[in-house]
Amino acid sequence: MTDETKDYLDSIEPILGRVPYAITLSDLTLPDQPLIYMNRQFFEMTGCDANYLGRNCRFLQSDFDNEDSRAEIRRALSAGERTQVVLQNRRMTGEAFYNMLYIQSLGPVGPVSNLAMGAQFELAETEALTVLRDAKATKMWGIRTRSVLDHGLRIRLEQRRTVMESTIRVLKSWDVMHRIKTGTLLKG
Ligand SMILES: Cc1cc2nc3c(=O)[nH]c(=O)nc-3n(C[C@H](O)[C@H](O)[C@H](O)COP(=O)(O)O)c2cc1C
Repeated sequence: MTDETKDYLDSIEPILGRVPYAITLSDLTLPDQPLIYMNRQFFEMTGCDANYLGRNCRFLQSDFDNEDSRAEIRRALSAGERTQVVLQNRRMTGEAFYNMLYIQSLGPVGPVSNLAMGAQFELAETEALTVLRDAKATKMWGIRTRSVLDHGLRIRLEQRRTVMESTIRVLKSWDVMHRIKTGTLLKG
């Protein structure tokens, strides 16, 4: 990681460290898209500390296959789109959990020319299976069968998606302000 990237990550820590959910950033321009940032909430959820920076986040999948979700992540990242998938992950203790991952490639942000943000939300097994059933029905029949999602779960998922979208807007605004301050807005 360059000094410039390190300075950038230090400067956004006061923002991302306060988001009430787990957030990670990966540099999509580096080989195997390594994790370059994790917030405290991600550490609390997974038990991973800064020693895991520099590795692709798939290490959380351990022995799980997650084939469909992984294919969807690869598709979205290469198309520059956002997506959300359910993955089976393991904490550093070995305990399995369901991770609803919101992921989006943001293009150039700060000194990173293609940055991706991931937001990890733990789901209980019954919630994860409901979300997976809903996604499967949508894929098979081309309709959103949102009615199978419990009302409370749907509200929580929407709230989390809103927090992620707001965080992305804050990151992008921060970037513009920083470029104005350093006089680099028109250069990049
Ligand atoms: C920003 C970001 C965060 C990610 N977070 C997770 C995660 O929390 N858990 C996980 O299993 N995979 C996560 N991934 C997905 C994997 O890193 C990888 O992209 C996925 O497994 C598909 O690639 P593969 O088939 O080569 O493994 C994340 C990816 C990115 C870019």
